[in-house]
Amino acid sequence: MTAEALRASHLPDLPEPFRGKVRDVYDLGDELLIVATDRISAYDHILAPGIPGKGKILHQLSVFWFRHLEDVVPNHLLAARIEDFPESLRRRLGADAAQIAGRAALVSKARVVPFECVARGFLAGSGFREYRDGGAVCGVALPAGLERASRLPEPIFTPATKETGGHHDVNVSYEVMEGELGPQLAGNLRRLTLELYRRGAEHAAAHDLILADTKFEFGLLDGELILVDEALTPDSSRYWEVSTWQPGEEPASFDKQFVRNWLDASGWDHESEPPVLPPDVVEGTLERYVEAYRRLVGAEPAL
Ligand SMILES: Nc1ncnc2c1ncn2[C@@H]1O[C@H](COP(=O)(O)OP(=O)(O)OP(=O)(O)O)[C@@H](O)[C@H]1O
Ligand SMILES: [Mg+2]
Repeated sequence: MTAEALRASHLPDLPEPFRGKVRDVYDLGDELLIVATDRISAYDHILAPGIPGKGKILHQLSVFWFRHLEDVVPNHLLAARIEDFPESLRRRLGADAAQIAGRAALVSKARVVPFECVARGFLAGSGFREYRDGGAVCGVALPAGLERASRLPEPIFTPATKETGGHHDVNVSYEVMEGELGPQLAGNLRRLTLELYRRGAEHAAAHDLILADTKFEFGLLDGELILVDEALTPDSSRYWEVSTWQPGEEPASFDKQFVRNWLDASGWDHESEPPVLPPDVVEGTLERYVEAYRRLVGAEPAL
């Protein structure tokens, strides 16, 4: 196991990065260098301390999925290992390359579609709350009598706006998205999201995991839609242990739910400075991410 969490990358010979909740993004012109750090966020707050090795798992799992899914949609990856970066970039990184090994990707810079593209096959999180309060999720009416963790009659597309600066993403109906993007782009996003979800869920099921829901980001590059950011990681998805799944109950999960549960039990108000995660929660979180990787990829992550 890596001993220390990488909370922030420092690459002094590159321009100052944009620091998202999890990734540090270095703008190189037509390309981006994206570094997956060990930061973890929940309820739109970055928590302390980091989860040592989490960024490497996110990076390696995204690469696995981008390749697994590239017959459905192209993705932003140009090079997923520092050895494969162009010589000029490797020279600029110099000795700092060691800091980002196993967690950095060189990608095509795209115009990011300003909606989170979410697919849900089961009721959880904001989907469950919306259903409980109004019988529908993002304008999709659902049958009565569903419970927390129920399987939906069929997977649904539930977009959300992409908010920045610590604001929650807001669930919207397909019609709202279509109004902003036009029927052609919105239709393609819905079709691709549901197909990617179907493929992800099928692979997960073959490894005793339920992919309850997931979020994709897309971008436009030379007029073509590509998958960007990350794909089907435990940060962007809910993965459940199939043997513990039962509607109405909370299944064992291999994602951020473990951290959310601990935060909920701590009594934190979701607004003030979040409590510092104790060592057993840090370890338990990493274990869950490692287990998701093991099952989905069939190998150990390189930590
Ligand atoms: N190929 C790409 N082209 C342009 N932007 C990208 C690309 N891939 C990822 N991004 C952007 O890089 C950032 C990655 O950082 P991170 O995932 O940590 O952000 P975040 O805080 O989760 O914010 P967001 O909600 O926008 O994802 C995101 O803003 C994402 O939209
Ligand atoms: Mg993100």
